[in-house]
Amino acid sequence: MINLDHAATTPLEPAVLEAMRPWLTESHGNPSSQHALGQAARAGVERAREQVAQALAVDPLEVIFTSGGTEADNAGVKGLAWAARAAGRGQHVVTTALEHHAVLEACEWLATHQGFALTVVPPERDGIVDPQRLLDAVTDDTVLVAAMAANNEVGTLQPIAEIGPALAERGVALHVDAVQAFGRSPVDIGAWQATSVALTAHKINGPKGVGVWVLRRGAAATPLSHGGGQERGVRSGTLAVPLIAGCGEAIARTAARAEDEIPRLRRLRDRLLTGLERAGGVRLNGCRDRRLPHNAHVAVDGVDGEALLLALDAAGVAASTGSACQSGAAEPSHVLAAMGAPLEGTGHLRLTCGLDTSEDDVDTAATAFAAAVDRLRGAGGGFA
Ligand SMILES: Cc1ncc(COP(=O)(O)O)c(C=O)c1O
Repeated sequence: MINLDHAATTPLEPAVLEAMRPWLTESHGNPSSQHALGQAARAGVERAREQVAQALAVDPLEVIFTSGGTEADNAGVKGLAWAARAAGRGQHVVTTALEHHAVLEACEWLATHQGFALTVVPPERDGIVDPQRLLDAVTDDTVLVAAMAANNEVGTLQPIAEIGPALAERGVALHVDAVQAFGRSPVDIGAWQATSVALTAHKINGPKGVGVWVLRRGAAATPLSHGGGQERGVRSGTLAVPLIAGCGEAIARTAARAEDEIPRLRRLRDRLLTGLERAGGVRLNGCRDRRLPHNAHVAVDGVDGEALLLALDAAGVAASTGSACQSGAAEPSHVLAAMGAPLEGTGHLRLTCGLDTSEDDVDTAATAFAAAVDRLRGAGGGFA
């Protein structure tokens, strides 16, 4: 199987597995215990915390381990909004229509169940939110802006550095979902002046079920769950030591190779895109330049996206019709809809390269794509 669905998840890197292994086999302490076994586990967690802090240029105290990107997004969005409202600062939240459901639905829940007002700013047709439009949505009652650094479907990069300083000046908290951006595009939390940032390990060749929530020093957040008071009191629960060790290693390794890996991914993606475009009636969705280097997301005229995905699957190529984070869902993508992309009579396909992708892989995938498109067009497009 040629895996061109790295935006959904990535294979575990062998060196990351090695970093996890001792915590799965030899050492099983609870990092909150005071005896030697516990302290060994604590040292493993703190090493991972240092790795993350170094890769993100933040203080280790600001690194909070979570069960993944979804939890980090919920913790940032709800935690910051609740704390700001409790401090009497207001109850308006701003987000973008491009967000992953982890952010969008957390914001919508604040509005429908918690009495917050919500403004959802649409992107422009190129899949990028206009920074001025976002800033114009901020009022004196706004306590939080939640915006992603890079979109998980169409791969467009969002202007976080252009909104962060203006928000900081106005005392509005900023939560950034950097789940797809990390390792593929700069994650500069200092320049962004973000209050809170979400990452996950499984998108960068780390294990599933672990992520990072960066909560800047001095920022107040109400915890999602109450319990043992681990992780500065904002994320209770016994720490998942093996997963955390893997997360630290994956983040460190991804940061270390980014300078070489980003241009390599871009070359592969461009080669793939040229191959896909050869089929005719194929257009790139989202801005060509301001996009993740591994992402090719295309509109294909006269073909059903789902049928195309299944045809590619049968030919041994893994792709996605949209957000694979909610895979199985055949609903039209909220991102494409917000961009005003044609949804009738046109299929959409996302192909994303990764660490294990070769030139041969993208060439084989492009050939399989052209054959599948040809066959489907000949049979009426494969529409249900
Ligand atoms: C942009 C974005 N945010 C959040 C998530 C959720 O992360 P996790 O799968 O670790 O819960 C994903 C994908 O799963 C994503 O692509």
